[in-house]
Amino acid sequence: MIPRAIIAGTGGYLPELVLDNDSLAAKYGLDTSDAWIRERTGIRQRHLAAPGEKASDMAAAAARAALAQAGIEASSVDAVIVATATPDSVFPSTAVRVQALLGITQGFAFDIAAACTGFVYALSVADAMVRAGQCRCALVIGAEVFSRILDWTDRGTCVLFGDGAGAVVLRAAEEGEAGRGVLSCHLHADGRHGDILQVEEGILKMSGREVFRHAVSKLASVVDEALAANGLAKSDIAWLVPHQANLRIIDAMGRKLGLPPERVVVAVDRHANTSAASIPLALAEATRDGRIARGDLVLMEGIGGGLTWGAALARF
Ligand code: UT7
Repeated sequence: MIPRAIIAGTGGYLPELVLDNDSLAAKYGLDTSDAWIRERTGIRQRHLAAPGEKASDMAAAAARAALAQAGIEASSVDAVIVATATPDSVFPSTAVRVQALLGITQGFAFDIAAACTGFVYALSVADAMVRAGQCRCALVIGAEVFSRILDWTDRGTCVLFGDGAGAVVLRAAEEGEAGRGVLSCHLHADGRHGDILQVEEGILKMSGREVFRHAVSKLASVVDEALAANGLAKSDIAWLVPHQANLRIIDAMGRKLGLPPERVVVAVDRHANTSAASIPLALAEATRDGRIARGDLVLMEGIGGGLTWGAALARF
């Protein structure tokens, strides 16, 4: 029988420097306010990488935490997949750098570029590879230093993002673990909308209102697709762990699924939008503080540049 892939551990890393909305506005002389940012996005603060701190450094730190939680040695990892839009370099990939930082010499490593949907894409690829027998234990990581691609004079974008990394250990299920693991992943892309959220000459540009409009409709349809594919109902979901871009989008999804707010994992208030890192960072918080427990059905969803969007269902 084809084994399922189990999320055996989670970990997160956030850079030391924290800037709240007022400090950010003051530092960059922005015509904005804490009230506007909170009301429109739910964001209170963000973490920013130190000079010289790279996506691979943060990814490796998150990965170490995930391995420790899973009780798995780096020497057992045979795949490293990093979702990032802010890699250290074009090549070597950030994943290969993480492999080296962790002292892993077996298996393979590569990056995935799907912007804010990167983690869902990476999880989907890793899940398929574990089930196909191409690897047995994968590190699936989202790591971003968006602070390096922001225009700090553009109040419409620079207040929205933060830096960080999140990781999960995905391993083949063993005997007695039936029922656990990734149930299915659902990926989509529509390149016709590439220009509403893109990096041009190294700087992020976004038509926020347009992205917002797509987010609400596309996320609603992909979560329906994920539930239908598994014959599950909204009421079966124990936790929604959404991409953390905007609290208004997160709340809309929670309402659509009929979930009380306490069943929706929110980190955007403290992390801002960390792109591909946002879902695994939120997962790490909610598994570590005991909210997400063994047997819980978790729905993850996200949308980002491309446009790309997707959802994944996993039983912990
Ligand atoms: O992670 C990838 C996916 N990304 C997303 O999901 C982001 C989706 N979009 C959003 O979250 C929201 O569209 C934003 C938070 C980006 C913007 O919120 P909005 O409610 O859509 O605002 P808006 O863009 O329609 O702007 C409203 C007003 C504008 O002024 P006028 O034209 O009405 O006079 C903006 O210039 O707010 C102004 N504005 C600001 N004011 C104070 C834009 N940014 C700021 C700011 N501070 N930082």
